Amino acid sequence: MKGLLLAGGRGTRLRPLTFTGNKHMLPVANRPILYWGLDHLREAGIEEVGIVLGPLREGIEAGVGDGSTFGLKVTYIQQGEPKGLAHAILCSRDFLGDDPFLMYLGDNMLEHGLRPYVERFARGDASAVVGAVPVRDASHYGVVELGSKDQIVSIEEKPSSPKSDLALIGAYLFSPEVHDVVRGLQPSSRGELEITDAIRGLEERTHRVRVLHLDGWWKDTGRPEDLLEANERVLASRPRSFFVASGHVDPAAHVSGHVGLAAGAVIGPGCTVRGPAVLGEGVRIEEGAYVGPYTSIGKGSVVRRAEIERSILMEEVQVDVGLRIIDSILGRGCRVVERERTPRGAAFVMGDAGKVVLPSPRD
Ligand code: TTP
Repeated sequence: MKGLLLAGGRGTRLRPLTFTGNKHMLPVANRPILYWGLDHLREAGIEEVGIVLGPLREGIEAGVGDGSTFGLKVTYIQQGEPKGLAHAILCSRDFLGDDPFLMYLGDNMLEHGLRPYVERFARGDASAVVGAVPVRDASHYGVVELGSKDQIVSIEEKPSSPKSDLALIGAYLFSPEVHDVVRGLQPSSRGELEITDAIRGLEERTHRVRVLHLDGWWKDTGRPEDLLEANERVLASRPRSFFVASGHVDPAAHVSGHVGLAAGAVIGPGCTVRGPAVLGEGVRIEEGAYVGPYTSIGKGSVVRRAEIERSILMEEVQVDVGLRIIDSILGRGCRVVERERTPRGAAFVMGDAGKVVLPSPRD
């Protein structure tokens, strides 16, 4: 069985973070989202993975290479323009050959990984295995309606009036029978070859599409708030062994909970860090700063004086301000500093589609 990890698309909902890079390389617990996906595929027993690349691909090939550091053999597949998930299968036809394959959206994270898919497929009675979970507003997802024996009654992409609350998770295991169906697909009204159309076509042909009801959390990291939530959940669920402490903690600092401190990271006197949190290589927490739970701070960043909680700071970020910062994502090289001269006031240098949320005067 092969793996297909999708890293194409444009990631428009994550702008401005995706103006300068590929969304799959955004960090969750100081590791690109895509790396978690590679881990999941390997843990499911897969050895050979095709990574589908789109128009923004910075850093992926350099970071993943031939896959050997992940215990995988990785091949890159060019999709170019994002014409849909089923189009990604079409572009991967040569790589996939006649093997069954586990397709995983590179921006999705599943708490318990992908093993249940492989185990279900191993029973030998499925032309595909898909996963579903109940969600609050199903209209943002592919929605599946099931009959009394869990057979698929209907399946629709982002319907305005969903027929059930069951969303399709971004992982799908297909037998090679799917290729015939994909070849016959027409673009949907939004111009994409839809994966839901492929699944529906396969079910009509084979009546052997099996639906898994998955427990554990599932996160599609499409929007900034999703990235923060994924960071929170991953940090909360990592075992103690994930939080390696190679850096230096001053005897007059306060550290509690699981805190990962990479080489050269320093927590200075009078500073407090409460885990779960990870501080990358060379990170400095100084001048009484506070870092609270569910925070990931990337390599080379410095936090002085500020309080930071449930946030993601990427590499080389500088925060030097007497401010409490929560639920924030700061991209590479961002600086949040205090104005040192009059006139008083806040000064912003923001790229397109940036966002600043200031505390309300009531706070
Ligand atoms: P989406 O989140 O649906 O699309 P997107 O990544 O372009 O984001 P946005 O809607 O904010 O513009 O994509 C889901 C996953 O599938 C994501 O990991 C990107 C990947 N993908 C491809 O690889 N090729 C495609 O043609 C599409 C549509 C998505």
